[in-house]
Amino acid sequence: MSSTDGPDTAGDGGALWGGRFEGGMAPEMVPLNRCLGVDGRLWRQDVRGSMAWARALGGAEVLTPEEVGRLVDGLEAVARRLATEDWSGAPEEDIHSLVERMLGEEVGELAGKLHTGRSRNDQSATDVQLWGMEAVEGLVEEVEALVLALAEWAEAGREVALPGYTHLQQGQPVRAAQWALAHAQAFLRDRRRLRFAQEAAAVLPLGSGAIAGCPFPVDREALRRELGFRAVSGNSIDAVSDRDWICDLVYAGAVAGVHLSRLGEDLVLFSSTEFGFVRMADGYSTGSSLMPQKRNPDAAELARGKSGRLAGNLQALLTLLKGLPTGYNRDLQEDKEPLFDTVDTLRLVLPAMRGAVDTATFRSERIEAALDTQLMATDLADYLVRRGVPFRESHEVVGRVVRLAEEEDRPLADLDLADFAEIHLAFEADVVEVFDWETSLESRDSRGGSSLRAVDEQLEEVRSALMA
Ligand code: ARG
Repeated sequence: MSSTDGPDTAGDGGALWGGRFEGGMAPEMVPLNRCLGVDGRLWRQDVRGSMAWARALGGAEVLTPEEVGRLVDGLEAVARRLATEDWSGAPEEDIHSLVERMLGEEVGELAGKLHTGRSRNDQSATDVQLWGMEAVEGLVEEVEALVLALAEWAEAGREVALPGYTHLQQGQPVRAAQWALAHAQAFLRDRRRLRFAQEAAAVLPLGSGAIAGCPFPVDREALRRELGFRAVSGNSIDAVSDRDWICDLVYAGAVAGVHLSRLGEDLVLFSSTEFGFVRMADGYSTGSSLMPQKRNPDAAELARGKSGRLAGNLQALLTLLKGLPTGYNRDLQEDKEPLFDTVDTLRLVLPAMRGAVDTATFRSERIEAALDTQLMATDLADYLVRRGVPFRESHEVVGRVVRLAEEEDRPLADLDLADFAEIHLAFEADVVEVFDWETSLESRDSRGGSSLRAVDEQLEEVRSALMA
């Protein structure tokens, strides 16, 4: 129905009902009710779903083949208009009403037959799910590009011994490659979560009507195939109100946000004057309007900052859904903003972080200068273990060695054999061999560890996960 056919709609923009209403919508209600500014971006999905629905009605013999043909052609014309015209100021409430009005302008009265057996409840759910399934494809590509950038950076850090931090205190030496690959692993898990959400989205709600199902014999299986869904929903009440897949996607985004934020934090720290382990390229940094020397790691900071809204979107969505009565409720219209914002935010942050990682470099001389031989205190304890000293005792012994070195203000590796021997008789001349970065790194040859073999294996696994 076009807006001129209906009752006085007084600014409610061509409402899709009217028979039982007297007078138009209250003016203060109009902007609250209207969501075209949000769901307008679903126009392609709305047209696509409508074409499939027209064909399904044809298959059910609700429409003649000739009517189906005119509707599909009309929808094609609508799509061309939507792609080229500025309709942002259209008076319609939502994208579904706008498409229907435009279709009326193309094919006349026949447009009124398209909504047979369909509700905006199953229609809007179908549109958003189609959108989400496509959006995940793009996000997965971005995540993979970031993982690849991390893997390439790791390649450059295979030979670089880096302090491994716990509590942000130097703990044990690791390889710079191992650090980069730790982030890669996290993003590979994000990819899995995104795929899971995509799978959850791929259950077709169309054909569920408003709540009870469809009274016309539409072939939902054919609809599923045409629209590229994986399955057909099994309960019409659930289908029009299921937003679990949006929770899954927004959750995947929130966790990816946490990972981006943690990578961002590492880059902020590592590119600081005090650490100086990493240099970020100019293209991903900014200067200061006042302090001429500044080079700020803004890409990393913004990645950290944007994670707040990714977490917030999940909170907004869960709060929206909690306590809703069964079936469609208008509250559900609010599902789209957190979803769109999560996808948009990730589309902003992921490419920028990928670029920042691609162009960042390790500053090995600064990293080397920061390596304190105390990082090998555990290796020293393990040395005693290999000489039969129980670990608890060797831990205690090395604690005393470290205290002595600190009292004398000497690096751990600079103590003499006499100093060691005085603390424990199991220390022998070969103790000096403990203080070798390569020996320490190579000793941890366990799967996932710091030896070159183990790191190369991790690199290979990340690369082959990208191929999968
Ligand atoms: N704009 C609505 C939404 O996104 C479409 C469904 C409207 N359904 C209704 N019964 N008012 O959820």
